[in-house]
Amino acid sequence: MTQHLADRTQPTSDAPTPNPGAHAATPGVPTPPEWWRHAVIYQVYPRSFADANGDGMGDLAGIRARLPYLAGLGVDAVWLSPFYASPQADAGYDVADYRAIDPMFGDLHDADALIRDAHDLGLRIIVDLVPNHSSDQHEWFQRALRDGPGSPLRDRYHFRAGKGEYGEAPPNDWESIFGGPAWTRVADPDGTPGQWYLHLFAPEQPDFNWENPAVRDEFRSVLRFWLDMGVDGFRIDVAHGLVKAPGLPDMGHAGQLRLLGTQKLPFFDQDGVHEIYRSWREILDEYPDQRIGVAEAWTPTEDRTALYVRREELNQAFNFHYLNTPWDAAELRRVIDSSLDSMRPVGAPTTWVLSNHDVVRHRTRLGGGVERARAASLLMLALPGSAYVYQGEELGLPEVTDLPDEARQDPAFFRRGAGGDGQDGQDGLRDGCRVPMPWSRDGASFGFGGVGGWLPQPGDWGALSVEAQTDDPGSTLELYRRALAERRARSALGAGDGVEWLEAADGVLAFRRVGADGRAVLVAANTTDRAAPLPGACASARGQVLASGPYRQGEPLPADTTVWWEE
Ligand code: BGC
Repeated sequence: MTQHLADRTQPTSDAPTPNPGAHAATPGVPTPPEWWRHAVIYQVYPRSFADANGDGMGDLAGIRARLPYLAGLGVDAVWLSPFYASPQADAGYDVADYRAIDPMFGDLHDADALIRDAHDLGLRIIVDLVPNHSSDQHEWFQRALRDGPGSPLRDRYHFRAGKGEYGEAPPNDWESIFGGPAWTRVADPDGTPGQWYLHLFAPEQPDFNWENPAVRDEFRSVLRFWLDMGVDGFRIDVAHGLVKAPGLPDMGHAGQLRLLGTQKLPFFDQDGVHEIYRSWREILDEYPDQRIGVAEAWTPTEDRTALYVRREELNQAFNFHYLNTPWDAAELRRVIDSSLDSMRPVGAPTTWVLSNHDVVRHRTRLGGGVERARAASLLMLALPGSAYVYQGEELGLPEVTDLPDEARQDPAFFRRGAGGDGQDGQDGLRDGCRVPMPWSRDGASFGFGGVGGWLPQPGDWGALSVEAQTDDPGSTLELYRRALAERRARSALGAGDGVEWLEAADGVLAFRRVGADGRAVLVAANTTDRAAPLPGACASARGQVLASGPYRQGEPLPADTTVWWEE
């Protein structure tokens, strides 16, 4: 079976068997010390990246064909959102088989070829792991339904009797992130109304019971499966959700989603999750070349986030506090300081992220068009730590805000108002950042593949395509390419764990960073809508490295502009 792994050109219909040791050393990828500390990690949303077979849905072969583009862009690693076998109730975050690829994306041979090609190009691969919940079509859940109350399979999920005389009310008052109650009632095998099960997201996503040892064993095995396939790490979905407060206590009030990321909740960020990540870190460390775990952890404070990246736990956690910060110099400075201060004691790198598949694209969210988005990106890419780039942000793509209702697929969209007040879940508008990528100026789907994608692209996206922007020195794509090349060449950008703030006018953020090679970089970002005086240190800088918009040295800093200088 391992022969398949060696012979990519002749896949057979058998699935490749993961082969421990097959990827012991990643060809083409030298292993610098702790590569992940300053890595730029590019998020691919497989449904929307590239469609090789023309069925309107992106696939692994499409991603594989575009790997040279990603290598040329200059990123270090690629994080793939879920591609596992899934009924797609939540775009693949509802996994029916953690060891299989959904046929719409390809098969394990495609995954193997993708991982190998990425490594040959010097790119690392991080896959999404979804351990908080499975799909309701997962074999375990289906068996749990069949086996009935009290069965060992039911104990792998959270099944409870309902409240009320006939068990007609949910076991507690928790709300689903997607709206409505976090519980759904099932019928007993004989057809009578039976127990309820917990789902913090859609009803098609039942939460696992992480107190059950079989669940823990299964995920340790799944980790090894993908590590043996050669992946370099995992982005851990809802990493803060696995353990629930003992007894599943009531919240006592509605509107729980509004507290997410600001207050302690009985279903999120419980201390018990850390034991799980300690056991996972042991597995990651058994493999060569620094395999990593990245927590998607929504916690009330940056200090609570830091707990996920203590030395024996995961390597990175997304910095949602930064993502949620408006384009305002004082607020940015505060969150940059507090992010760095929280991570320093645990020795983990800070991460920076502006866009992903769950939030409004930052070109639109920050409210200042492409100029502001470019300035925000150049600021982010100068900060010490690891940066995340979401597919299409390098093209300056805006959020698509006018998708017709009939095109939408976000499960939260269909549960709007499920709890009565219409305000209790996510807005359900996440499809607007998931529209397929434009690769070429023309064609029915601008080179995405086939005659159209699973979500309609705006008619003018050809002008934003990779083809249209390549070699245009003023384009956002060429700005990202230059920024990532400079970041690779200068250790003052990305590496390290601190910034030296410089005096600057109100609304301007300015700092100095010194690289391991002793060369210093100065950075200034004007977050206002007017030109601002240049910070003194920048006025006397040796040379301009890069500017997010038109800028002539010595002139005031234009509105919504970030500039990098060599000191
Ligand atoms: C993912 C979402 C998904 C949810 C449930 C997240 O935080 O990023 O896209 O809907 O987890 O799995």
